[in-house]
Amino acid sequence: KKVAVLVSGNGSNLQALIDSTRDRSQCMCAEVALVISNKKDVYALKRAEDANIPSLVFNHKDYASREEFDRAVSKALEAHRIDLVCLAGYMRILSAEFVAKWKGRLINIHPSLLPRHPGLHAQRQCLEAGDTLSGCTVHFVDEGMDTGPIITQERVPVHPEDTVETLTARIHTAEHRAYPRALRLVATSRARLNSQGQIIMS
Ligand code: GRF
Repeated sequence: KKVAVLVSGNGSNLQALIDSTRDRSQCMCAEVALVISNKKDVYALKRAEDANIPSLVFNHKDYASREEFDRAVSKALEAHRIDLVCLAGYMRILSAEFVAKWKGRLINIHPSLLPRHPGLHAQRQCLEAGDTLSGCTVHFVDEGMDTGPIITQERVPVHPEDTVETLTARIHTAEHRAYPRALRLVATSRARLNSQGQIIMS
């Protein structure tokens, strides 16, 4: 399966997906074939270049609306014959049209154990709530904010002395295992959505 990864920043999850899909001891069922960023000069683009993966930058200022921006992204995905889209630190809200078009082929990673702490600053929300357990979630994207069907989760402990930085770092290491695992499940259709939008695991 040809995979596009959509990014806005550092791209450590992009790196984990590139490395795992090139690991010959794994299933070789997916290939990162395109990286799309909505920001220029981000480190994720350097990672794509270093891995010889084509990348594109879309600036929202070049488009009249969110829908038009997303249509341009969709067009690029289709031109590159992309099968699956992974959001990895992509800091843009997607239009309903984009989500509907890519439904079942669009996945996201979030730094909490959803449905706890959706939205921005999940790690801060976790610390403020006094949780002793956190982690990450990879899920199919639906119309809501971090609400889609869950493919896989990984837990990490929260320590009393944790700061947003230390907790974020611990969650990141879990993300770098969970995202490749989720991508393999989706690329091999062991995790898929049915026509009602429910997840089927086999
Ligand atoms: C990750 O924590 C992910 O869960 C969130 O954004 C962060 C991206 O980190 N959606 P990176 O750019 O992959 O390093």
